[in-house]
Amino acid sequence: MERLDKVLVSQGIGSRKEVQKLIKSGEVRVNGEVCKKIDYKTDVNSDSLTVKGQALNYQKYVYIMMNKPAGVVSATEDNLDKTVIDILPAEMKRKGLFPAGRLDKDTEGLLIITDDGEFAHQILSPRKHIEKRYLARLDGKITPDTIKKFEEGIIFADGTKCQPAGLEISEDDEKTGIVTICEGKFHQVKKMFAVCGLKVEYLKRIAMGGLELDVKLPIGSCKLLTNLDKSLILVGKLH
Ligand code: URA
Repeated sequence: MERLDKVLVSQGIGSRKEVQKLIKSGEVRVNGEVCKKIDYKTDVNSDSLTVKGQALNYQKYVYIMMNKPAGVVSATEDNLDKTVIDILPAEMKRKGLFPAGRLDKDTEGLLIITDDGEFAHQILSPRKHIEKRYLARLDGKITPDTIKKFEEGIIFADGTKCQPAGLEISEDDEKTGIVTICEGKFHQVKKMFAVCGLKVEYLKRIAMGGLELDVKLPIGSCKLLTNLDKSLILVGKLH
């Protein structure tokens, strides 16, 4: 049993304040009856809920897009730093959420946070080859030789071989590149550029599979993913 307002927030109906207003104004029905109690204990498995006459299709799991800021770690707990879970908006917080994949502490951009372990496994599995796209600002110019090395597959100093990666130079700045990789080795993008003698000064993930970071989502903010957004990640290849 869960509070009605909490259930509606978890389903992306609105913020805590917004759904409480909806409930109090009689817009929410439980099993056909108007329910104006924001803390009514509802059983999501058996109660049928409607909001403004529309049936609520309860989703067991949540899928959140975060525009991760620099300075927070992609973990559920940390003794020193704030985590991406710590900075979730109160109305999105619920038990069992974790980041599906890692971005370095100083990396910004698209991070998926969910409580659906199976989905996380699907989008992270190296076998799925889901492409991740990054914008990287470097301390020097990207040359055709760098692009060639990325295409051939960078080899780290310890002999680890990366799969072929895409690298495009930004139209307005030769020190900025768009990198596409389909694996997730530790510090991968930074290490790939380091092999080419370049230092990453700023890194932001801008897409996973066919899902792009929402340009209207401010740094540090979150939004719930739709089913379409979710399926876009899994379509994998960007090009
Ligand atoms: N590659 C990196 O080096 N860092 C990230 O955060 C992601 C990819």
